[in-house]
Amino acid sequence: MGAGIAQVAARAGYTVIMRDVKDEFLKRGLATVDKSLQRDVDKERLTAAEKQCVVERIKPVTEMDALRDASFVVEAVNEDLNVKTEVFKALDEITSRETILASNTSSISITRLAATTRRPDKVIGMHFMNPVPVMKLVEVIRGLATSDETYERVRELSEKLGKTALDCQDSPGFVSNRVLMPMINEAIFCLMEGVATRDNIDEVMKLGMNHPMGPLTLADFIGLDVCLAIMEVLYNGYNDSKYRPCPLLKKMVAAKKLGRKTGEGFFKYN
Ligand code: CAA
Repeated sequence: MGAGIAQVAARAGYTVIMRDVKDEFLKRGLATVDKSLQRDVDKERLTAAEKQCVVERIKPVTEMDALRDASFVVEAVNEDLNVKTEVFKALDEITSRETILASNTSSISITRLAATTRRPDKVIGMHFMNPVPVMKLVEVIRGLATSDETYERVRELSEKLGKTALDCQDSPGFVSNRVLMPMINEAIFCLMEGVATRDNIDEVMKLGMNHPMGPLTLADFIGLDVCLAIMEVLYNGYNDSKYRPCPLLKKMVAAKKLGRKTGEGFFKYN
């Protein structure tokens, strides 16, 4: 998702420093941006020269120190509290005290991430949806200490990126994944219990509820490891058995069948 966020920010005219731990990940991210912008060139919504300018506004780096002068940071690392905590601590050290540190987390507590920094008033959730260039929503999550000023800046930035910001309080899964993920998890239970075939489960939701993707296809699209991580945040956060992750989901993740990104999940991909 980091590449998608970099793309919409660069398209809106911002200079973007895109940081990842390895060059190969940066190359993959830039290839995703290129492919996505090419769709707009093909549809004559962007000229090839404009596309080039957008791409040139994205500076790929592996050094964390390159973020020193950033005025705004959106973190989009793995959905793992320990990894995110390390990143927030490092960002707090490196960047100016005025810099807002936003997280694209899909379920982890913003209050908890904020508490690892010396600027909890400037830490906020800025949760984009996949594919970032297409989906209009940014779910904005206010931690316990997030200031009104930080919230306003994020709302304004979201608008400049062509998104609609909807705010919610810091609660496990926020709104998006508290509603979406149990639906996906239940679809996986239906598959595990043999209630219907994988194709029929997806078609029921597409034809019956007008969902653009069936829940199993959507799970593959999001990544089964991400789905499991979110279910675990819900399960542990509410201590309620209704959020227990489906055993088949756990098995798929253990088998490293993570969906599109590994070439196989509930479906196979080229
Ligand atoms: N990058 C850029 N543009 C893309 C794209 C991508 N990866 N994928 C599709 N598009 C664009 C297409 O160019 C097309 O644009 P126009 O209509 O303007 O010409 C439009 O999206 C529709 O694409 P297609 O006709 O090729 O395919 P589609 O109609 O099947 O739509 C989809 C594809 C937009 C992905 C659609 O299937 C969809 O909305 N799926 C559900 C996505 C969803 O639920 N996302 C949220 C996931 S949850 C999450 O992200 C948060 C979390 O915490 C887990």
